[in-house]
Amino acid sequence: MDFEVKPTGSGVGAEIIGLDVSRPIAEATRRALYDVWLDAGILVFRGIGTTPERHVALSRCFGDLDIHPVESVRIEGHPEIIELTTRGRNTPIVHYIDEAPIVGRIPWHSDMIYTTQPCRGALLRMVEKPPRGGETGWIDTAAAWDALPPAMKQRIEGLEARFDYVVNILDMRFGKPTGLRFGSMGTQNWGSFPPVAHTLVWTHPESGRKSLVLSPIHLIEMVGMPREQGDALLQELIDHTLSGRFTYMHDWQENDVVLWDNWRTMHTALGTPLGLHRVVQRTSLQGERSVGRVLA
Ligand code: SIN
Repeated sequence: MDFEVKPTGSGVGAEIIGLDVSRPIAEATRRALYDVWLDAGILVFRGIGTTPERHVALSRCFGDLDIHPVESVRIEGHPEIIELTTRGRNTPIVHYIDEAPIVGRIPWHSDMIYTTQPCRGALLRMVEKPPRGGETGWIDTAAAWDALPPAMKQRIEGLEARFDYVVNILDMRFGKPTGLRFGSMGTQNWGSFPPVAHTLVWTHPESGRKSLVLSPIHLIEMVGMPREQGDALLQELIDHTLSGRFTYMHDWQENDVVLWDNWRTMHTALGTPLGLHRVVQRTSLQGERSVGRVLA
């Protein structure tokens, strides 16, 4: 293998050391990387994403790439890459946490869980690191499932929850960051989506591992259960999953790339203090798999 695999130190995910992305990645290396990704769910590549071309080449090792429907977030010359920035073309969302204005805060979620085709995964690259803040965290929801008591596993398998496209994070029903106050919504309403139901437990189609499906931004209620009873169950599962035992928090350096399997993880952007600059770019891996159902 022409790379090494090292634990991240948090018990979640793995770090890839020594991969050379200045030349095309050989098929055997690509397959080996893919297998490590399936096993670990989150891969960290430190200092490797020095150009958009290298970012795209690395991303293609893991699947076909999505083109984001909103043209203004794509970067010129690379339609597969979107840019999330605290300045420039797209008005950032400002929230107030304990009175401090924060830009780009995104609570725990899995991408596009409010559809029946959540994306397969994504690769995020730090282009301009802010002097403070701007961390991103990931939770391995397969590890969270593994750690549940057997009785709870038995109780929740097959049960469904409803997920909506929630634009304003103040409308979140579960997992709202403490001390959060509304600032400005910005312009990031990207469409309208009907509510969907997903089972609380997914079996990964490639690894066979089970994971919890929660995505607190979008989680509304249990399907077919009285609200109070359903909320108590969801809160218990969220407390377990967000306990920190299954979390990897990345302390970014410029040109780091982090890859995640969106079918078994959640992630959060902690946000950047207003006035500091942060620029990240990301590619998204297509999710051809259909899961869940649209609710009438
Ligand atoms: C994302 O959710 O894709 C963005 C994460 C970040 O900006 O750290």
